[in-house]
Amino acid sequence: MKLPLVAPSLLSADFGNLNRDIEMLNHSQADWIHFDVMDGVFVPNISFGFPVIKAVKKVAQKPLDVHLMIVQPERYLEAFKEAGAGILTVHYEACTHLHRTLQSIKVLGMKAGVSLNPHTPVHLLNEIIHDIDLVLIMSVNPGFGGQQFIEHSYTKIKTLKELIIKSGAPTLIEVDGGVTVANAPKLVASGVDVLVAGNTVFASGNPAETIEQLKKG
Ligand code: DX5
Ligand code: ZN
Repeated sequence: MKLPLVAPSLLSADFGNLNRDIEMLNHSQADWIHFDVMDGVFVPNISFGFPVIKAVKKVAQKPLDVHLMIVQPERYLEAFKEAGAGILTVHYEACTHLHRTLQSIKVLGMKAGVSLNPHTPVHLLNEIIHDIDLVLIMSVNPGFGGQQFIEHSYTKIKTLKELIIKSGAPTLIEVDGGVTVANAPKLVASGVDVLVAGNTVFASGNPAETIEQLKKG
């Protein structure tokens, strides 16, 4: 597993030609496929749900990295497992009993991720870092693709990296929102293990080549 991992976000794919885009990802250096599930309550947008994930699972040859931007995600953990999720990320801000939710995700056989909105401080994970397989730092306000990267995210990534090293946990750091070929090297230098990129990949003239450039970190 060569770091950084690259997880193109399907939110920016062409839904009229989804098979074509998945085949492109299958043949590219992409490591995971990132899914943004939005409920219109936790975020001011609605994206897609189980039927789309199940359909992609049939043709995808890479793990499905599912990012839940929904309230009460604990109600749907089993359904996302059945749909094909390999990594399931919930938002810190959406979980009253985060520890229980993470344990449930793992019991179902998935990797457990926790995402932090831009305003949520990293130190809130102090007591639970050992239970998290992946922390997803939102570097835009969640809800839409193609937004501008929030510069303060570098500081949060560095703080998180220190916390992970200090605790000895094997947790991965994923960054999501406004990732470009230009800022990828600085993100990786700050401690990022997984780069999510939607617009940068799918609006590119040559998505597979763009993935290759991101992969170089
Ligand atoms: C935003 C989503 C992102 C989004 C990233 O709420 O979580 O995954 O698809 O899109 P870009 O890379 O275009 O900022
Ligand atoms: Zn996402």
